[in-house]
Amino acid sequence: MKVINVSNRLPITIDPTIHRSSGGLVTALEGLAVDEYALKWIGWPGAEISETRRQREVEGLLEKEFGCTPVFLSKKEIEGFYHGFSNSSLWPLLHYMPSRFRYEPAWWDQYRAVNEHFARRVLESAEEDDLVWIHDFQLMLLPAMLRAARPDLRIGFFLHTPFPSYEIIRCHPRRDELVAGLLGADLIGFHTFGYLRHYCSAVTRLLGLEASFNEILHDGRSTAVGVYPIGIGSTRFEEELNGEAYARHLASFRKAYAGKRLVLSVERMDYTKGIIQRLDAIELFLSRRTGQDDVKFIFVSVPSRESVEQYRDLCEEVEARIGRLNGRYASVHSSPIHFIHGSVDFSELCALYSLADVGLVTPLIDGMNLVAKEFVACQRDNPGVLILSEFAGAAQELFSASIVNPYDAHSVAQAIEEALAMNIAERARRMQPMCERVMKMDAQRWARWLVHDLSRAAAPEQSSHSVLDASDRISDALESGKKVAMFLDYDGTLREIEREPSAAKPNAATHAVLQKLRNRPGLDVSIISGRTPDDLEAFLGSYQFGMIAEHGAAIRRPGQSAWERMDRNISHSWMEQVLPLMRLYESCTPGSFVEQKRTSLVWHYRRTDPQFGSWKARALVAELGVLTANMPLRVRHGKKIVEVTTTHLNKGAAILQMIGGNKYDLIVCAGDDATDEDMYQLDVPRLISIYVGEGETRAGFRVLNPAAFREFLSAALELPEPASKRD
Ligand code: UDP
Ligand code: G6P
Repeated sequence: MKVINVSNRLPITIDPTIHRSSGGLVTALEGLAVDEYALKWIGWPGAEISETRRQREVEGLLEKEFGCTPVFLSKKEIEGFYHGFSNSSLWPLLHYMPSRFRYEPAWWDQYRAVNEHFARRVLESAEEDDLVWIHDFQLMLLPAMLRAARPDLRIGFFLHTPFPSYEIIRCHPRRDELVAGLLGADLIGFHTFGYLRHYCSAVTRLLGLEASFNEILHDGRSTAVGVYPIGIGSTRFEEELNGEAYARHLASFRKAYAGKRLVLSVERMDYTKGIIQRLDAIELFLSRRTGQDDVKFIFVSVPSRESVEQYRDLCEEVEARIGRLNGRYASVHSSPIHFIHGSVDFSELCALYSLADVGLVTPLIDGMNLVAKEFVACQRDNPGVLILSEFAGAAQELFSASIVNPYDAHSVAQAIEEALAMNIAERARRMQPMCERVMKMDAQRWARWLVHDLSRAAAPEQSSHSVLDASDRISDALESGKKVAMFLDYDGTLREIEREPSAAKPNAATHAVLQKLRNRPGLDVSIISGRTPDDLEAFLGSYQFGMIAEHGAAIRRPGQSAWERMDRNISHSWMEQVLPLMRLYESCTPGSFVEQKRTSLVWHYRRTDPQFGSWKARALVAELGVLTANMPLRVRHGKKIVEVTTTHLNKGAAILQMIGGNKYDLIVCAGDDATDEDMYQLDVPRLISIYVGEGETRAGFRVLNPAAFREFLSAALELPEPASKRD
């Protein structure tokens, strides 16, 4: 098996010289190589390379030396997809900063085009049994694109950033497409449960789907969701700390900073990292210690996304602020902040982490924050103190850090003072459990865990054998001139469900299959539905099929125009008692409404807040259970509805009415929800029952969605080719 790792950023940037890329995604993914699988990495080499000859050179080099396949982006794509849509539009919203959000419709076109470009690259490489693992917000459409092209492919998606509350993501003009794009994956991973919960909430609210905390059901498939906090490449740190380069740097830094207590911050220069707020806290700290210059703040600020205006502005602001602070609080011998606007090499970084007395990590929000974990990994001797923002994903694991609110400059200044004053025993006591966790739950373990879960979550190849049996039985019966009756539910069976029931008119695909049904000799078709006779006439009246409306309360026989009432002897006086309760739920559940049919009462909650609506529906079902306990009534909790009908009326009884004295060699019935189960239990010989969708059923066969059901019907109705053509 091969794992195809797909991310916008490759570990190597060619810009134009070759160098290691920075950022948490790359450092974490570098730890992925494990013995169990071969790894291939597909991504953008980080700069515009337009000349074909140069592209071939880079491609050869990346493949040979680094096992990477480059996706080349044009200048326009880099502008629209990367600087625009990814970094100026998605990044601020994912980090709860709508005021920084920018949007241009042209960026969306580029984003889609680049995701398609990536899809083509992946499809060129993906072989049977391979596992495709897509990373981060730049590629949110890719899972769905790959799924459409290769339904059999095993696809995972991991989001390295936070996923924000629905109230934030809903600001995005393309929110539905973005949220739906991930659902092409078999498994979606997040750093924390909070991000997972927000994604599920967005899925239910934006797409109207059902999502539990471990899976989302959609399009007849299921996508697993899970929490997988990423780790660091711990072996690399362990080895480095025993290396010679590290020892050399450590000795040299010790000398350079002799007599100083060091407070270290390392990050990409990004407005999410809380640099300005940290400088507020440092200013407070310094203002309380005038006259003392024994503390040195070191900032390693790695340049990032400098083509984006907001990043350039931040950089200027930080530089100006540090300049002012250094001017104000410098002594004759030194200034308080040592600002490095650049990258440091790995052994230098480890030496700095190790030497620092305090790691000051105070993002305003961060998906995980690996710097916090890296700092912990380097506290082998003479451990320091980690001050960590409560808004970093890492705060959920590194609980014995000094946890701070980065917006509260006073408490951060206070935390710095306390950290510097903490004795060695206390520092060691706090650091030890964090160190154990960081070294154990590392990037390799994270990768193995995800790959393992993805292998399990991946949709098992659909066994279509049994349903093929059913289709063969139907076509054999029709071919040999036998009489076949079909009873087909409409919504969710022949036609996809719509948020607004009136919008679920037959579409082209439904008409195509209805025409085949109409034209097949030897076949009697009835549409069987909970809808009213008027609805059915309006949608399907032209077909002359038999029709069963309101779950069997009204029947229109094939070729007839008059409806027969099946409920003449049934009293509906129960409605007087049930209606007030439903009205009460209608008035206290915004978006819900009561539909009064002649023979049933239905409370619809499709347009309510999904969580609130489901909760109220369960409460209504319970109350109705008590109210109707001694009445001949049935309470059904269907798809976004709660319906009360008399027990005498159901789809099974209606089928028997429709069949009457006719003799059929085969009866086929199909439906998609609880109201259809009565059909599957009919006591008639030679019954084929088909359930459309996921979940429990008593039906003998299953297909996953209306499209698959239409396909099934088309196959069953296919006329054999004339003998002369077959030869
Ligand atoms: N880092 C780097 N170059 C440097 C300093 C740090 O590549 O000069 C690395 C650092 O070791 C860490 C990553 O950048 O692994 C930052 O990851 P983090 O998760 O903290 O933040 P992100 O960049 O993902 O927002
Ligand atoms: C964060 C993002 C990554 C990104 C990294 C560096 O970690 O989650 O997707 O690669 O920052 O940003 P850049 O824009 O340079 O790739």
